[in-house]
Amino acid sequence: MTQKVDTAVVLAAGKGKRLDVFETPKPLLKIGGKSLIVHTLDNLKKAGIKNVFIVIRKGDFVQKRELIDYPLNIEFIEQTSGRRGMLDSMLSLEGKIDKPFYVTVSDLILSHNPYKMFVDCGVAGSADTGALVCFDSRQNKESGANTKVLARDGVIREISSRLPSYNALDLGIYYFSPKAHKSICALAKKDKTISSVPQFFVVYSQKEKIRSVEYSGDAWFDVNIPKTFIRAELYLGEENSAESGESKKERTSLKNLPKTVLLHNKKETVTDITVKRNILERLDEYEVIPSESYNSPHHIIVDESIDSFLGKPILDKLLSLGYKVYKHTVKAGENAKSINSYVKLSEEILNKGIDKKSTIISIGGGSVKDMGGFLASTLYRGIGFISIPTTILSQADAAIALKQGVNGGDGKNLIGSWYAPLKIIVDPATILKLDERWVSDGLAECIKQGFAYDKKLYNLLKGYKGDMKDLDFLESVLKLAIEDKVRTIEEDLHEDKIALVNQYGHEFGHAVEHLSGYAYGHGESVAIGMRVSAELSYILGICDRGVVDAHIELLEKYNLPHQVPKVISPEDILNSLKYNKKYYSGEPRFVLVDKIGSVWRDKTYYTVNCRDEFIKQAVEASYN
Ligand SMILES: NC(=O)c1ccc[n+]([C@@H]2O[C@H](COP(=O)([O-])OP(=O)(O)OC[C@H]3O[C@@H](n4cnc5c(N)ncnc54)[C@H](O)[C@@H]3O)[C@@H](O)[C@H]2O)c1
Repeated sequence: MTQKVDTAVVLAAGKGKRLDVFETPKPLLKIGGKSLIVHTLDNLKKAGIKNVFIVIRKGDFVQKRELIDYPLNIEFIEQTSGRRGMLDSMLSLEGKIDKPFYVTVSDLILSHNPYKMFVDCGVAGSADTGALVCFDSRQNKESGANTKVLARDGVIREISSRLPSYNALDLGIYYFSPKAHKSICALAKKDKTISSVPQFFVVYSQKEKIRSVEYSGDAWFDVNIPKTFIRAELYLGEENSAESGESKKERTSLKNLPKTVLLHNKKETVTDITVKRNILERLDEYEVIPSESYNSPHHIIVDESIDSFLGKPILDKLLSLGYKVYKHTVKAGENAKSINSYVKLSEEILNKGIDKKSTIISIGGGSVKDMGGFLASTLYRGIGFISIPTTILSQADAAIALKQGVNGGDGKNLIGSWYAPLKIIVDPATILKLDERWVSDGLAECIKQGFAYDKKLYNLLKGYKGDMKDLDFLESVLKLAIEDKVRTIEEDLHEDKIALVNQYGHEFGHAVEHLSGYAYGHGESVAIGMRVSAELSYILGICDRGVVDAHIELLEKYNLPHQVPKVISPEDILNSLKYNKKYYSGEPRFVLVDKIGSVWRDKTYYTVNCRDEFIKQAVEASYN
């Protein structure tokens, strides 16, 4: 006869050692806006449970205080001994429960209500014992859940953490009849070598049947290590945004507008990238500006500090070929990409004249290239763009991009476009005149590529012992970095998946760059950003300390800063992160390295969101 199950025991006495970084008792860790234990209680309530015994550690007042108002009959049981974990909890419940009940851990985040599954398969209220198992072990491969189960025909045949062959994992949710509860207590008292419930089941299954209840939800997270904590947080974020649109359902049920004509706007463009030492000296031997644009006016935008040795010679060569070319100089550095500078330049260019076949040719570092690209993408709604990057940073990274843009008052690159250059011409020899500071600054983006994507590049940078300005060395670094960038953006044009590796260190980096009033170069800021990101990754348990140390070592080797300047507070950084393009749904998101050469990822996600307190801790850890 089936008896309605209205009682449950929630085990909440564990210390949650592996989640110590969060400094909160594990059952009270908030995930998706509510604590883990409240997720469990909510599911129990929805499955018709009225009475709950919560087993807590002796003297744990925090949980009592937090759960005092929860709308179920809750009784707290203080566990006297914690040596045998769940088994001791079962003993402490002897004489308190005389009806069937569930026993559940309090650290699971599940997509489906597990207690309803016990009812649906007829185990609840009728069988003697049952355990929830998941046959799809891939769902939980990183969580550390390791009690293996061999189940057949709805019955558990074996259960142990050391089974050589198994087909399911134990989820830590069980059903007990009063008879089974008595047996477990008797056995626990008689045989002190039995130290866990799975061990009890091993003995119990020799005489009695333990039913296996199959968990058929599409996700389950055993939140016992930081990684699963983050995954569960991401998962619930997704669920909530799907749920918050009750109205979304209605909206999708509306009819589509009738289509009269279809406009396909997929535009395929190919950018030629040339990497050749000294090519700029022989530029008049090549078709730089497309021949069909021969009669159009063209505009060079050049950094004023390199005009004499790069801007002017290139202008002369193009003029000697008969092209009509105007030259506009901009101030060096970040000034080149202010919104005011954009307004001034576009007026100047329009005054001199352009047509649809005109091109903008940028000559300079990343800031001049960003400005040139944005001008090209907006003037006449898009004219040709040719990029001649002249710093390591722009040759390795900024120019190898479809992103063009200028700075807004509150942060970097806030106004911009996606626009493909016609040509990118990289002459590594231009860097011979570069200050040591800018060589280091540029190498920061290559170091970033090494940490986030390319271990070969990391090894090259780590192992190199010669002069930083050696052209052979720089060329090999450049080639690898360019190939990496091309590969990632070809796969992910709009940089929201794998190409996010290119933004490693940039969330904190942009904040430092902006907050320092651009006193730090872009690469220097990214270097600091990588250090803070590595600290955050370590705090969240994503990488080990060795990865953080490797960051510090390599950044110091190339004379790059990695400490956050003390004048910038964690609050300043938190505030500035709001202006990062990866800030959405009220939270900043970070690309984080898990091991050298790769970033943390989960299915389609490449970014991690986390609470402000961890961000502050990471900033504070990076002051020295
Ligand atoms: N669009 C993108 O995907 C992307 C990617 C990375 C960086 N960026 C942007 O790039 C900018 C940083 O670029 P950058 O580091 O090249 O800075 P930059 O353009 O400010 O140049 C750095 C310094 O080098 C000098 N310089 C340039 N070429 C030189 C040469 N050949 N010899 C001697 N001195 C030279 C400049 O005058 C300047 O003082 C930032 O604004 C950043 O946001 C954009």
